[in-house]
Amino acid sequence: MEDMFYPGWGDNRGMYSVPQPQHAAPPSPIHGPALPIGLAVTALGILLSLASAPVASSAEREQPMPEPVLVQEVPSVQVGATTAADPCAEPAVLEAIASADDAATIAGFGGGESFRAAVVAGNAPCISLDDPSHVWVVVNKARPLAPIDFAPASLADIPLPMTTGSSRARADVAEAVGSLAAAAEAAGAGRIGANNGYRSYDLQVRTHAAHVDNRGQADADAASARAGHSEHQTGLALDLVACSPACGEIDAFGGTPQGAWVAEHAWEHGFIVRYEEVGTAVTGYKPEAWHLRYVGTELAAAYHHGGFHTLEEFFGLPAAPEYPH
Ligand code: DAL
Ligand code: ZN
Repeated sequence: MEDMFYPGWGDNRGMYSVPQPQHAAPPSPIHGPALPIGLAVTALGILLSLASAPVASSAEREQPMPEPVLVQEVPSVQVGATTAADPCAEPAVLEAIASADDAATIAGFGGGESFRAAVVAGNAPCISLDDPSHVWVVVNKARPLAPIDFAPASLADIPLPMTTGSSRARADVAEAVGSLAAAAEAAGAGRIGANNGYRSYDLQVRTHAAHVDNRGQADADAASARAGHSEHQTGLALDLVACSPACGEIDAFGGTPQGAWVAEHAWEHGFIVRYEEVGTAVTGYKPEAWHLRYVGTELAAAYHHGGFHTLEEFFGLPAAPEYPH
């Protein structure tokens, strides 16, 4: 088992030359509830999703995209629907975009569901899902970061017990995960720590290369993003571990009370569990109960209430289970 060769390194196994703090033995896995299962897959959903996809990166335009295998029903939930014919012309939206205030921008659209609907309908030309400085960015195997070596403008320490030196995230993300962990502990789910937060382009090169060395290209690509394709490089993603009594491995997280709590409540703190089992055909990644992606509370609520299980389907984007080349 590879963890015997890379104890404690989780998603970032063996990537540091400096010693990494360890938190003793992993907790005993507890067979908690599985992650939520997706809504019914419908052919109508496939057609609507494809027909309405409005935002395409240059890579998507140049490459034939794989057919989506899993597509949601069209959500019936409408939260704070805006009546604006041109939401990008709304003064509140213009002001929020000018001040780079993502939450205010989404509020200016009328809330998370209205924002999503406007993007999917092609009625939000002021919103780019390619821009890694915003909570709505979509990064996947077909949507590399631009620039490829993007780094967040600033980072803050993640206020959790950390099991590696990859211990920073965007300040808003660090604050949100701190509140998530406090809520989990208050609810009796136990203590939560983190393994990796932000990973630079160079660190992702080494992380992915280690996976290839140890498990081969195909398995590596199902578990680790190639450099320039990881949400960790945006500062919006982090990997959680359970820390009661001591911090364990990321792989064990889904079977812990903390993992079960996070699957149910992450959205309340602005996060989605990005790689669910039901979404593997869309994302190309095996399930990662530990990998949280921050999208902000408005979008996370729309994602949750809409019954979505991949960000691609949320924004009407094509599935991206493989790299285009
Ligand atoms: N493990 C996820 C897919 C990443 O490397 O970003
Ligand atoms: Zn991760």
